Amino acid sequence: MKRIVLLASGSGSNVENIANYFKDNSKVTIAAVFTNKRDAKVLDRCNRLNISALYFNKQSFFKSDCLLNIIKGMEPDLIVLAGFLLKIPENFVVAFPNKIVNIHPALLPKYGGKGMYGMYVHNAIKSNNETETGITIHYVNENYDEGAIIYQVKTVVSNTDTPEDIAQKVHILEYDHFPKVIDQLLSN
Ligand code: GRF
Repeated sequence: MKRIVLLASGSGSNVENIANYFKDNSKVTIAAVFTNKRDAKVLDRCNRLNISALYFNKQSFFKSDCLLNIIKGMEPDLIVLAGFLLKIPENFVVAFPNKIVNIHPALLPKYGGKGMYGMYVHNAIKSNNETETGITIHYVNENYDEGAIIYQVKTVVSNTDTPEDIAQKVHILEYDHFPKVIDQLLSN
């Protein structure tokens, strides 16, 4: 059995999509979802989906090995960041080399780094009149959005697209590709 641990800070629509993708797969299980936001919508989704979900505070993440040890105990094959906004501390990167993956809603290295998340990314794409955007799935290292790229896919941005339209196009790509890439990584 392959075990996935997910970290999410927000709505968790990717978490739900990943959970649905693996629902009937007897070889892959979602061990748990962790969130740093007490009121994150992802907690409601996990309740509905019967997935274990836990909230943690910054102390347990940044100033101790508390969360690290809990996750280590779960023996994950992959740690998936799905809309997770905190920087991954070094103790995690060292403990899980090439086992932590993130999805970024743009074509890295463009539109990455601190503060570049969610609508900030799509607004920037719009104001720079970009003609394409996409998603990047990458390994996580000590720096925001700088780990080795695993997979990218593009979508066209037309000049009539609003930032919300762009967000929607990117979400479609995320739902379509992220679970498949995770599946592929688990079977390698
Ligand atoms: C996604 O666009 C993802 O790429 C980014 O944060 C967003 C999370 O959306 N890192 P959701 O919480 O999965 O709905």
